[in-house]
Amino acid sequence: MKIGYLQFKPELHNPSVNTEKVSDFIGGADFDLLVIPELANSGYLLSSLDELAGISENPDSGKYCSMLKKLSRKKNACIVSGFCECAKDGSQRVYYNSSILVFPDGKFRIYRKTHLFYNEKNFFHPGNTGFWVYEVPSEEYETVKIGMMICFDWIFPEAARTLALRGAQIICHPSNLVMPYCQNSMYARALENRVFTITANRTGTDTIGKESVSFTGGSVMLSPNGDYLSRASEDKEELNIVEINPLEAKNKFINEKNNLFEERREMFYYR
Ligand code: ACM
Repeated sequence: MKIGYLQFKPELHNPSVNTEKVSDFIGGADFDLLVIPELANSGYLLSSLDELAGISENPDSGKYCSMLKKLSRKKNACIVSGFCECAKDGSQRVYYNSSILVFPDGKFRIYRKTHLFYNEKNFFHPGNTGFWVYEVPSEEYETVKIGMMICFDWIFPEAARTLALRGAQIICHPSNLVMPYCQNSMYARALENRVFTITANRTGTDTIGKESVSFTGGSVMLSPNGDYLSRASEDKEELNIVEINPLEAKNKFINEKNNLFEERREMFYYR
């Protein structure tokens, strides 16, 4: 199974350019599952709620999500991407920092970021989907189970743990990382859950007036043994794809006597 990520720099508040950019980057690539960074249609930085109306979209009909669905069908492959979501709550518009998983048959699933980072709290509703696992079709393996989390969710080990306990073999992790810790911490998330992880980070800097945020690149893919399958540069746009056997993530034995899931002793854990 070919899995990968796109690391790129979205243009701030320019969904048309970002839709074209992502389509150009991945149009010629050969993969079964590709992960694209957080807020890939909109860029990251916001200075007012008013900005959200013009840069967010409804995944049923929005241009960015439609482009992903079209490519997914054409390539017979699944794509996970972060995007700025506009939803309705009664007559009110609400915004989520979301990711979409698109299937070749046109169906899709949405995950809404559970743990909002810093000023994201000023603009987005906290996610209300929870952490779920979906079966994606695979010619070689029939189906492979994947889960989604977004960026800062990484610092809550319960996020990856929940996905792994629900059967995820691959954790898809669209990101806009601003701190340098996650790329190394994903080693632990992969190893302690014995899953594959794909962290697709972005590069560059977003600036509005005097406010600037820079992103740390270094997208990573890890195996259930903690092997780095791919590590991107800090500052270049890159598309990297590797071949994996997803069945490796079904084996939770770390040696012949220790099974990481069967040996959990929940009565001693804090709830
Ligand atoms: C982040 O969660 N985008 C830092």
